[in-house]
Amino acid sequence: MEKYYITTAIAYASAKPHIGNTYEIVLADAIARYKRLKGFDVYFQTGTDEHGEKIEQKAKEASKTPQEYVDDISKEIQRIWDIMNTSYDKFVRTTDSHHKEIVSHIFQKLYDQGDIYLDKYEGWYCTPCESFWTDSQLVDGKCPDCGREVQKKSEESYFFRMSKYQDRLIEYIESHPDFIQPEARKNEMMNNFLKPGLQDLCVSRTAFDWGVRVPFNDNHVVYVWIDALSNYITNIGYDVDGGNEEFRKWWPADLHLVGKDIIRFHTIYWPILLMALNLPLPKQVFGHPWLLMNNDKMSKSKGNILYADDLVELFGVDAIRYYLLHEIPFASDGTISYELIMERINSDLANILGNLVNRTISMAKKYFDGQVENKKVVENLDDAYIESINSLEDRVEKRMNKLEIGLALDEIFDTLRASNKYIDDTMPWSLAKGETKKERLETVLYHLLEGIRNCALFLSPFLPDTSKEILRQIGTDNTIFGFDDTVIYQVNDPEPIFMRIDIAKKLEEIVKIKGE
Ligand code: MSP
Repeated sequence: MEKYYITTAIAYASAKPHIGNTYEIVLADAIARYKRLKGFDVYFQTGTDEHGEKIEQKAKEASKTPQEYVDDISKEIQRIWDIMNTSYDKFVRTTDSHHKEIVSHIFQKLYDQGDIYLDKYEGWYCTPCESFWTDSQLVDGKCPDCGREVQKKSEESYFFRMSKYQDRLIEYIESHPDFIQPEARKNEMMNNFLKPGLQDLCVSRTAFDWGVRVPFNDNHVVYVWIDALSNYITNIGYDVDGGNEEFRKWWPADLHLVGKDIIRFHTIYWPILLMALNLPLPKQVFGHPWLLMNNDKMSKSKGNILYADDLVELFGVDAIRYYLLHEIPFASDGTISYELIMERINSDLANILGNLVNRTISMAKKYFDGQVENKKVVENLDDAYIESINSLEDRVEKRMNKLEIGLALDEIFDTLRASNKYIDDTMPWSLAKGETKKERLETVLYHLLEGIRNCALFLSPFLPDTSKEILRQIGTDNTIFGFDDTVIYQVNDPEPIFMRIDIAKKLEEIVKIKGE
């Protein structure tokens, strides 16, 4: 069985994640479930990034020890990942003792082989980003990444010789066109960072304690990004002697899924670290776009944060999964609001999907007492519909291979739409009027059930609960892809899958809940 190792970024254990942070785990989950559906041996890792000055400060503000603080937030993050029904295989934490031990070994090895050296740093420091900047890198005197104030800092630090590996990395990126996706991100990395020349990276800090100690100098802790990025290998059995069998099985990762803001860390620092450790590079780093709230960045100060648990309570988990997976395009930011979520539920999930399943099952019950077999009384107009069922696997595969998740869902919805059109064209209710059309009617319903079965199978990575419920209602556990002649359907009573929402009424309800 071919293996597939997929990771998300590990979330900062600094605050409860909002729906934007939650997007990534849902996206990764859809990909992981899809690969499992296609027979891959999948390993899906996520977790929390728990060290650094910002977290140390937050813990102090909350009058907790850093460990107590991250224990609470990490638990909360995992709770949200679970509410979203994500099927990760491992939830890792950078405060885990095994991880810390391997990070310390990695630092020692890089020092021993001369890739890390001690020097003095003078520059501007951005605490929220935990990054140093030079005068020329600042934008209007502020952090170029987040736009916040920076402080002048001078400290003794260890540095990593990035420049030594720069040419190798440029060559690698140029000869592996799929390594950085989407394409625009690759150009950004090449033109803005690699081609102008890399500076050596400051990889230790002395101003705070909350981190992995540098093994040969107690005054320093390891830079949080070296610590965090290493999670991708420390948790699958890596050690500096080469690692165990598990590590050889899973590494290199097939896909690191990260937000566009941290693509630089994953396509420059991480590959160089791996080159220094003499390890192969991940096959692909995908920098996904962001989810905005009414086209604006979500932030506490703007009071425009939506949380996954609240949204799931209001609309159900699969509706929110559908929204996230369908509405955020491959390469440009998406937006979210209560109204937009409800419009999507009504137009796609209730009208197209829910209606189709409900109508088909009701007719199977009414005309055949629920039992439907393929009577093979076909007509010309069936061909296009059956073709839409048979081509579904390839159409979805093409989109998924390019990580165009929203478009993969569109392919499934095209077949659902074709099913609704097939009902309009064949008019089963009029076939039901004459006894002579009974076998044709059963054939039509059989075709529809096959369409629904296939759509439900391919929906399973995206809407796992809905997929299961549809298969239960149509009464089959057949998992063959494409049109199958041989299923004997015994459908169950129809139950609504997605109800239409009265948007104005629901908005009033939401205002009431929020006002309390
Ligand atoms: N701890 C680092 C990652 C270390 S990986 C070795 C980090 N954490 S984070 O909590 O700030 O972000 C976690 C992920 O969520 C990142 O990939 C980030 O890009 C993503 N997102 C944060 N806000 C987002 C949106 N509004 N929309 C979509 N993704 C967002 O960065």
